[in-house]
Amino acid sequence: MAEFLELAKTRRSVRTFDGNNVDEKIVAELKSFAEGIENPYGINIRFEFLDGEANKLSSPVLTGEKLYIAALMEPGTHAEEAYGYSFEALLMKAHEMGLGTVWIGGTLPREKFEKASDLSDKEVMPCMSPIGGIAKSMSLKEGLMRKGVKADKRLDFEELFYLDSFDNPLSEQKADGLDLRKALEAVRVAPSAVNKQPWRVVISDNMAHFYEKHDRGYDNGTYDLQKIDLGIALFHFESQMKSEGRALELVVEDPKINLPKDVEYIASYRCK
Ligand SMILES: Cc1cc2nc3c(=O)[nH]c(=O)nc-3n(C[C@H](O)[C@H](O)[C@H](O)COP(=O)(O)O)c2cc1C
Repeated sequence: MAEFLELAKTRRSVRTFDGNNVDEKIVAELKSFAEGIENPYGINIRFEFLDGEANKLSSPVLTGEKLYIAALMEPGTHAEEAYGYSFEALLMKAHEMGLGTVWIGGTLPREKFEKASDLSDKEVMPCMSPIGGIAKSMSLKEGLMRKGVKADKRLDFEELFYLDSFDNPLSEQKADGLDLRKALEAVRVAPSAVNKQPWRVVISDNMAHFYEKHDRGYDNGTYDLQKIDLGIALFHFESQMKSEGRALELVVEDPKINLPKDVEYIASYRCK
């Protein structure tokens, strides 16, 4: 199996599309892949493929897109993590197939997308993604947007990852010695809302404990966009480990270590 990290490193958010419809066979393949997606929480995430023209859909940050995927969930415990994990599985599949995607949770006419998705009373639609052929050059607004959020940069290893406690930053070199460099690098390159990278990981024995470093303004009381980012991070970590042929299991068992301000425990991988 090709390493997930190689695929993850070639991904970037795409906001400028080539204006062509996506081939029907490709759409059918993606729909069938979407139906088989499972997440470690066993929570159902619904995907709706939406034709832009038929539903009169658009987004101020996008150009040339014809098709969207809306992702819907019922709010509840761990729903956001499950949502981030499952939707990222689908978007990485699309990337592997050569298509452009971008998580959109803010810059969209939400009500139009919800109506087109037949949102039920129980559901919410935190994000959608356009999907399609990538334009040869980026629109001016896409370039500006990337600069605005420093989209090509990530925090250093030592700011994101730790050994045993939050007082002991983990360098790339030390992570390499623990055979975890690639899995953590796969987390590091993942997409996140406003590129805030809220994931923190503490490695302890055979466990990788995932935490959310909260920024203000991402939790609307119904769902927390940064918990969705954590679900994305879990998917990236697990996918790299699996592509290295390593077995692991997700558990929610707070190890109760001392936490810095605004940091919340999310879940742990037990690496076998
Ligand atoms: C949950 C989530 C929500 C996002 N919402 C938006 C959005 O509303 N508009 C937008 O242009 N980009 C959005 N993004 C894309 C991020 O800005 C992007 O992933 C980040 O800047 C890193 O850039 P990269 O994906 O090219 O690596 C979102 C990403 C995530 C994970």
